[in-house]
Amino acid sequence: MMNDSILEIKSLSLGDKSKGITYVENLSLNIKKGEIVGIVGESGCGKSLTCKAILGLLPGNIQVTSGEILFDGIKLESNIDLFRGSRITMIFQEPRRALHPLKNVGKQIEEVLNIHSNMSRKNKKRRVLEIMDMVKIPEPEKRYYQFPHQLSGGLCQRVIIGIAIAMNPDLIIADEPTTALDVTVQKGILSLLYELNNKYNTSIIFVSHDLAVVSQIADRAYVMYCGQLVEEANVIELFDNPLHPYNKSLLNSMNSINGKEELISIDGMVPNPKNYSEFCRFYDRCSEKNNKCVGKKPVWKDLGERKVRCVKFE
Ligand SMILES: Nc1ncnc2c1ncn2[C@@H]1O[C@H](COP(=O)(O)OP(=O)(O)OP(=O)(O)O)[C@@H](O)[C@H]1O
Ligand SMILES: [Mg+2]
Repeated sequence: MMNDSILEIKSLSLGDKSKGITYVENLSLNIKKGEIVGIVGESGCGKSLTCKAILGLLPGNIQVTSGEILFDGIKLESNIDLFRGSRITMIFQEPRRALHPLKNVGKQIEEVLNIHSNMSRKNKKRRVLEIMDMVKIPEPEKRYYQFPHQLSGGLCQRVIIGIAIAMNPDLIIADEPTTALDVTVQKGILSLLYELNNKYNTSIIFVSHDLAVVSQIADRAYVMYCGQLVEEANVIELFDNPLHPYNKSLLNSMNSINGKEELISIDGMVPNPKNYSEFCRFYDRCSEKNNKCVGKKPVWKDLGERKVRCVKFE
């Protein structure tokens, strides 16, 4: 049977067994072929660890403690080395740091072809120029020989995207790919990713702490809080009709940016993973809490079109 999901994460937990800390708990997520899905949440909620788990790049002290990840129906854990860099690729926040400072950018794209293809030298060069054109780097013949320091941050990110699409991947994991760039450059990168998705049907996981940015590119988004998913819906619903109180406060803090005054952040501190509550993790900061929330562990509730983790909806 045809599998229309490119990625399925089932009840994934990530933790440090030796210290008994859980960083990500029971996360289930599904991405269809050709879909752009966002993951949103404050700093430290576990977005990057989730990406690293998919890519098989978790830091040594953090393990997959339960659950599984399926890529195109295949268990990813034992096969990630076959797929990473070709069928699953990544784009990170700091384009300049992700590039080798002493190698020209053309060669850096070409290295992907060296590793994953057996094209002739001449064809490789031609393909690199074609890729540079695809990611809209002007004057590819000249840029090919330039070094990262000769390129703007936005152009460096286009090189990274070139590296990411070189082998026509099925899935690109973009972890805060525009956060380090200024707003106009950000827009260009977003529309490039959108266009690549459209043209080649590449699925994209787009991670950001900024729901507004995610909503510009994603069809659907997951909101994370303290290592758990708290809401999932299409981005229009997430905006127009947020269900989880955390998502509501995220939107409120955002509106205050658009509506001139200073950024109002959500009251209270994000807890440290060591202190994550076994009950509702948003309780202390929640403006809608009541007696029913006390001592209850909210479940990941399927409401049909969307999902939410809040006692109110149980
Ligand atoms: N190598 C590590 N060792 C110990 N703790 C870690 C390690 N990497 C991440 N963490 C912790 O795991 C939690 C989740 O981190 P993660 O990097 O996934 O957050 P994030 O959502 O990507 O945040 P940001 O928006 O700042 O990038 C944080 O509390 C972080 O301090
Ligand atoms: Mg991160």
